[in-house]
Amino acid sequence: MSSTLRAGKRVRVCLQSDVEENQIVQVHVDGIGVLAIYRVEGQFFASDDICTHGQASLSEDGYLEGFNVVCSWHSGSFDIRSGQPTKPPCMEALTTYPVILDGDEVLVALEI
Ligand code: FES
Repeated sequence: MSSTLRAGKRVRVCLQSDVEENQIVQVHVDGIGVLAIYRVEGQFFASDDICTHGQASLSEDGYLEGFNVVCSWHSGSFDIRSGQPTKPPCMEALTTYPVILDGDEVLVALEI
């Protein structure tokens, strides 16, 4: 999924209907890179897609356990609400981005 529409520092990344509950969707944001969009308990979250421990794609090689994304490469995990590591070998926080909902659209707030 790719997005080029921007409103200030907010970037439309997908539709709410594109992300099912407990699913991770990969989006490409021009100028930023690849992000992972998560939906848990009806809420949306966004982070960098690449695990800080290695080069695993969290949207492709990760899965959700509640508000934790578990990286299947070495079973480390992060809290998707804060990006803080919750299980080693992940030690470095994942960059997260505020998510804004506008109707069915999911927007991510970026510092560009
Ligand atoms: S690459 Fe993700 S836990 Fe090692």
